[in-house]
Amino acid sequence: MLLWSVWSAILLLTPLEAAEEDGDVRAGCSTAVNDLVYIVDGSWSVGFSDFDTAKQWLINITSQFDISSHYTQVAVIQYSDTPRLEIPLGKHQGGAELIQAIQSITYLGGNTQTGRAIKFAVDHVFPSSQRASQVKNRIAVVVTDGKSQDDVVDASMEARAQGITVFAVGVGNEITTSELVSIANKPSSTYVLYAEDYTTIDRIRDSMEQKLCEESVCPTRIPVASRDEKGFELMAGMNIQMKAKKIPGSLVTEAAYALTASTDITENTREIFPEGLPPSYVFVATLRLTGSSSKLTFDLWRVLSKDKEIQAAVTLSGKDKTVTFTTTGITQKEQRVIFKAGFQTLYDGKWHQLKLLVRPRQVTSFLDDQLIQEVILEPVEPIYINGETQVAKRRGMRITVPVSMNNAAERSKCSEFI
Ligand SMILES: *[C@@H]1O[C@H](CO)[C@@H](O)[C@H](O)[C@H]1NC(C)=O
Repeated sequence: MLLWSVWSAILLLTPLEAAEEDGDVRAGCSTAVNDLVYIVDGSWSVGFSDFDTAKQWLINITSQFDISSHYTQVAVIQYSDTPRLEIPLGKHQGGAELIQAIQSITYLGGNTQTGRAIKFAVDHVFPSSQRASQVKNRIAVVVTDGKSQDDVVDASMEARAQGITVFAVGVGNEITTSELVSIANKPSSTYVLYAEDYTTIDRIRDSMEQKLCEESVCPTRIPVASRDEKGFELMAGMNIQMKAKKIPGSLVTEAAYALTASTDITENTREIFPEGLPPSYVFVATLRLTGSSSKLTFDLWRVLSKDKEIQAAVTLSGKDKTVTFTTTGITQKEQRVIFKAGFQTLYDGKWHQLKLLVRPRQVTSFLDDQLIQEVILEPVEPIYINGETQVAKRRGMRITVPVSMNNAAERSKCSEFI
């Protein structure tokens, strides 16, 4: 049962002090190394005005990326009967130049040969990249308003075979769901998007931006019930299974690990989150706090900059029975959300699952799948990745706090797991 009246939280913001440290590297969406190819329907059914809207939408979803030969490169293909390469991959350095180039694309008109356009991207546009060995993500976004007059299956399969991730965006009511599903990667809940018509395409902008960003910064692929999703494997990435003692878990089928004061779970952030943190992620920990860990204040998980500033942290306080989430901020260096109520049972010495659902502008906490509280966040900054990521450390110290942790039972898109 949820008691709204007893919910309380405080959003603490520490003032921004010094300017950025020399030589530090931030990583996030903007610095993702992507080859991004937009494949846009320019057939007659779209019409001049809606085609302009489609162009603006592409400009909008591109704005989160730093357009340069180091980071994201963009190409645009317009297609009808034949594909036309409007903007070659990496032609424009800088967002302003790219925006202008997209704006000046003229509407083609004609039939809808989507398969042919995807094949053109796979055979000619992606391979034209000047940095084939450095690029981290090859992503195609197909925007179409109608049923293709040719076959899309072969070209889309070829794209996936080449490691290209394909998003399919269907606009209007003439589209065929099965066609979008064959164009896009699996699961279609992630890679297929719909808009009612071009006038409402802005509504799927946030969702598209987020998906593009997640695709760009989630480093590992984890097979989840035959789906192919990206996510962090923190338990493995942090070498917890290797360093900690194996103990019986919360369920007989799962192993758990006990950290002692002499276990040091510390890794370079670069190794764990080479592309920074995504805008949305789920932090899940199934843990048992006994002895000192149920009384102390410690960071269950933290990402520190080289200068030991917190880039992200989940802090437990047995004394106050609270959970604190810390992240970066645009106007403030560090923003902290304290969940003051609802976490008493986390400290009762039994197994519990703590979950934080982090979104671009809000964080939601759960205990044993019960929603505890939702709090608004200020926009966050990309994190510094040249420091360390640690598990179960006393606040401001390197001392490990003994906790027991289960292997993650639950996995979701672009999540981290302890
Ligand atoms: C693009 O972004 C601007 C500014 O946020 C917004 O007003 C406009 O509706 C967006 N257009 C589309 C097509 O997404």
